[in-house]
Amino acid sequence: MATLEIRDLHVSVADGSDGTKEILRGVDLTVKAGETHAIMGPNGSGKSTLAYAVAGHPKYEVTSGAVTLDGEDVLGMSVDERARAGLFLAMQYPVEVPGVSVSNFLRSAVTAVRGEAPKLREFSKEMKKAMDDLSIDPVFAQRSLNEGFSGGEKKRHEILQLEMLKPKVAILDETDSGLDVDALKVVSEGVNRFASGDTGVLLITHYTRILRYVKPDFVHVFAGGRVVAEGGPELADELENEGYEKYAKAGASL
Ligand SMILES: Nc1ncnc2c1ncn2[C@@H]1O[C@H](COP(=O)(O)OP(=O)(O)OP(=O)(O)O)[C@@H](O)[C@H]1O
Ligand SMILES: [Mg+2]
Repeated sequence: MATLEIRDLHVSVADGSDGTKEILRGVDLTVKAGETHAIMGPNGSGKSTLAYAVAGHPKYEVTSGAVTLDGEDVLGMSVDERARAGLFLAMQYPVEVPGVSVSNFLRSAVTAVRGEAPKLREFSKEMKKAMDDLSIDPVFAQRSLNEGFSGGEKKRHEILQLEMLKPKVAILDETDSGLDVDALKVVSEGVNRFASGDTGVLLITHYTRILRYVKPDFVHVFAGGRVVAEGGPELADELENEGYEKYAKAGASL
């Protein structure tokens, strides 16, 4: 059973002048295969920073703490090694890569994760089937990565990557703001399908909207770079009704 463990994680970024600013101030979190966790919290509370730090983004410096996947030290791994170990990160703002097609990107990603390039014909078949299952138009495979993608298309592409890469743990940082109901449903169905299998899902979200479609097993509330409250799905309902105010105060006073 795959387990991602985050222990007392402290993360800093360069503050633009000469110093650094601590964003994460001791985060503890455990995600096991088959579980869905939601991380919720006000804007600027450090949710995306957690995703970037686990992904190995060079701007985010881990100053102390540990991240392990099945006991293996994730922080010592290169970005590629993290993917190969079974981590998948979908970012809040995916980069546009003109000139690199969706199909080329997916083949490189699959090659990185599996450790060898899949045979072209088998890969094409696999990709066609996954796209078909997600009702993605076949011409999409030839589009440039993320260029001009609508919110819904970006989300479909995210779930297509999940299908192809079959990670042990997926961290999805959701821009629920720009998403229409169609896009929300695509993500939700994808997440629900994965979470019922062997994948552990960490769903990062500011709004509770997506949680009408995805029922998390655990909800963690972030404020001021820490987890300030934890509970089951009822916590998401409480946040929907009452907002983050009381937790924002808790984060500031820690
Ligand atoms: N690369 C960076 N350089 C400078 N400051 C940063 C950087 N990344 C994050 N921060 C700061 O860290 C804090 C947390 O940002 P983060 O993006 O993790 O918040 P968030 O919880 O994901 O917010 P949102 O709900 O708006 O997506 C913010 O104050 C932000 O300005
Ligand atoms: Mg964010």
